[in-house]
Amino acid sequence: MSTTAEPSNLMESLVSLAKRRGFVYPSSEIYGGLNGFFDYGPMGVELKRNIRECWWRDMVHRRDDIVGIETSIIMHPKVWEASGHVAGFTDPLVDCKVSKQRYRADQLFFAAVVVDGKAVGYVSALESEDTGAELQAAAEQFKRKKAIQGALATVQVREFTEATEAEIPLIPSPATGEPGSLTPPRAFNMMFETNVGALKDASSVAYLRPETAQGMFVDFKNVVDTTRVKLPFGIAQIGKSFRNEITPRNFIFRSREFEQMEMEYFIHPNADWLACHEEWLRWCQDWLKSIGLPESHLSLHEHPKEKLAFYSRRTVDIMFKYPFGVQELWGIAARSDYDLQQHQKFSGVPQVFFDEAGKQKVVPHVIEPAVGVDRIFLAVLAAGYAEEDVKDEKGNVEKRTVLRLSPRIAPVKVAVLPLLKNKEQLTACARELYLKLRRRYAAFYDDGGAIGKRYRRQDEIGTPWCVTIDFETIEKDGTFTLRDRDSMAQKRITETELFALLEERVY
Ligand code: GAP
Repeated sequence: MSTTAEPSNLMESLVSLAKRRGFVYPSSEIYGGLNGFFDYGPMGVELKRNIRECWWRDMVHRRDDIVGIETSIIMHPKVWEASGHVAGFTDPLVDCKVSKQRYRADQLFFAAVVVDGKAVGYVSALESEDTGAELQAAAEQFKRKKAIQGALATVQVREFTEATEAEIPLIPSPATGEPGSLTPPRAFNMMFETNVGALKDASSVAYLRPETAQGMFVDFKNVVDTTRVKLPFGIAQIGKSFRNEITPRNFIFRSREFEQMEMEYFIHPNADWLACHEEWLRWCQDWLKSIGLPESHLSLHEHPKEKLAFYSRRTVDIMFKYPFGVQELWGIAARSDYDLQQHQKFSGVPQVFFDEAGKQKVVPHVIEPAVGVDRIFLAVLAAGYAEEDVKDEKGNVEKRTVLRLSPRIAPVKVAVLPLLKNKEQLTACARELYLKLRRRYAAFYDDGGAIGKRYRRQDEIGTPWCVTIDFETIEKDGTFTLRDRDSMAQKRITETELFALLEERVY
């Protein structure tokens, strides 16, 4: 019997578990950490690897129309001129001249405080789950503090990017609460710059890639010329990307170094791009469910036409209900032929495919599903985390923390536990089974402590199954106890049945 309750601060619980059980550490922690950078510990690295490998298997190995590549992180600087990143990969930056804090103007909100139809001042708030309520409360406080009489109107929430020149000096800084210190927004390019070679001048400037996608466009001709791909086909890549985010936040959700899994699907210019876009949208949602994300946490956000990125005809984001609100997990964009046309123009090398049916060269169009590994990582932790009150064998209630990770991505698939540490027959049998299992699956051997404690340790890292070797195993029929993480139910099982279960569920 168990009862589950959502922890009061899920994010805090997740960050704490991630540190305690070796999933995620702050980067360079002994030096105080570095904002926007993280390290993945022994459990985290396994989980991340499994997410990547599941994606690669399903996206590349299990399809005939997609090939994979791995391109360099630092590319020719012209790539980023052609792609539009040098000129346009910017976020609107606002400085507070007093506190030296920096804000993204599209994440900073303000409202006029209107009393009896007259604006008497301004309030501001950073983006949150309910910015409107925060601004309303701030407006009420403003009115109270200034002892203004009259009826307060409901606040009209506006983004700082919409503030007029006259309004900016009147809007209080979220850091100081006082107006007069916020600067007008200015475009801040998010690419990290570096220098290639011994000379540090303008001619040696290069960038850490802000997306993996350009690798696929720049190698389009190489792939076409060296493989037997036919339209429609895709090129996939997994790799690190870097963005000098103004406000990295929400743990690994928005960081400055992260990993992307992107696929560029090239289609004939006359193909039905909208139908293809819909197909990929479905594929991505199904894939997220296949690694254990519940449908109830997923939703779609269609980018309004006026807010589309410069290259996009249509973008739909798959959103996830994170503990800090519903946020973008996976973007599926219809990029038209923008990128190939740009690279053709900037490099002078034709970026074409010979269409056998139409007997002509065409510049293909592209549908792009682009997702961050770290965002999936955080989503599976958030969806899988639970704290439960359970009863032990003596009927005492105790707390168990469990990570309900899909067996596809769980860092450890099965733990082998001899009932007692000091019984040679039990440990020998357990080690034999463990050695057999680990040839194919990530298995874990643990003989330290009470069996209940060992189960709890596995629950916390999301191990779907534990097998216990007991006296029945060695004295009777060779079966062992299989304990299921989620239901905590136990049953006896043979070795053949155990391998069949793993074969079916870990795919
Ligand atoms: N090639 C298109 C592209 O990069 P994007 O929407 O900027 O599009 C794609 O990024 C995905 O990469 C996002 O949906 C998100 O999952 C992930 N991502 C973007 N910025 C990130 C950041 N700062 N930290 C972690 N993940 C990020």
